[in-house]
Amino acid sequence: MVPLEQAQVSVEDRGFLFGDGVYEVIRAYGGHFFELGAHMRRLQHSAEGARLALGAIAEDLPALMRRLLVQNDLQDTNMYVQYTRGVAHPRAHAFPSEAKPTLLVMPLAIHSLPEGAVNKGVRAISLPDLRWQRCDIKSTMLLPNILAKQQARERGAFEAIFVRDGLVTEGSSTNTFAVFQGILATHSSGPHILGGVTRDAVVRLASTIGVVLREEAFTLEQLCQADEAFLTSTTSEVLPITQVDDRRIGHGRPGPVTLRLREAFLGIARG
Ligand code: PDD
Repeated sequence: MVPLEQAQVSVEDRGFLFGDGVYEVIRAYGGHFFELGAHMRRLQHSAEGARLALGAIAEDLPALMRRLLVQNDLQDTNMYVQYTRGVAHPRAHAFPSEAKPTLLVMPLAIHSLPEGAVNKGVRAISLPDLRWQRCDIKSTMLLPNILAKQQARERGAFEAIFVRDGLVTEGSSTNTFAVFQGILATHSSGPHILGGVTRDAVVRLASTIGVVLREEAFTLEQLCQADEAFLTSTTSEVLPITQVDDRRIGHGRPGPVTLRLREAFLGIARG
C-alpha cells in the first residue's frame, strides 16, 4: 500500500501495451461495498474470459479493499480494481510463458453528476456499436467506449447509446432501460452487453415494486418513442434520460417508473 503518486507500473506491463487486462468499479456507501459478491463474480467471469487466473486474489481482494477504505478514512467512494497479464519482455502479442499479473486497487473519488441530471434527466446520443462480441468481459480495452463517450461530450450529451443490428445494446459505460406503457425493458444479458451490477439490482427491484420487466432488446426508434428511459451504472446509479439525439423521451421529464426505481435503488444501496 503506497501513496497514489508513488504507485508505479512498468512500461512493459501488458495492461499498458495491449489493454490486456480486466477491471471493476465498486461503490462503497457509508463504508460498505454495494453488491461486492456480484462484482467479485463478474471479475472472475472477466478473468476467465481473458484467460487470466485470479488465484488467491479472489479471496484476498475484499479484505484488501476494506483495508484501503479504513486506511484512507473513506465512507462513500468508488474502488477501482485492475488486473492485467503483467510485465513481459520483449513485447509480443501471444501470452508470455511466464508473467506475473499486476493487481492495482485504488479508491476513485465519486464524480458529481452534471447540474440537474437527476431532476431534469440527461441527454444521450446514439452511435453504432463498434465493439467486439464479448462485451460481457469488463476489459480495460475501452477505445470504442472512450471514443463514443467523447463524441457524446462534444455534442453536449451525457452518454452515447450503442446500437447493434438495429437494437439498443447499452451505453458506453452504462446499461440502458426504457419503459413502454408501464412495462420496463432492457437488453438481455449475454455477449453484447456488460452484465451491470446496477442493472441486475434494478431488474430485481422491478418485481418488488410491482413493475413488469422484459429482458428484451428494443430498437432505437422504440427507445425514442418510449414513455421513459434511464441508464444505470455504479457511478451514475439510476439516471433518467430525457432526450436521445434530437428526440424528446416521453414528456421530456424523468418518468414515474424511473423515479420509483431510483428511490428503491438508493434505498438498498444506502441502506
Ligand atoms: N462502467 N456497461 C458498460 C459498458 C460499463 O462500462 C458499465 C460500468 C456498465 C454498468 O455496470 P455497473 O452497473 O456494474 O457499474 C454497463 C464502469 C462504472 C466504468 O467503466 O467506470
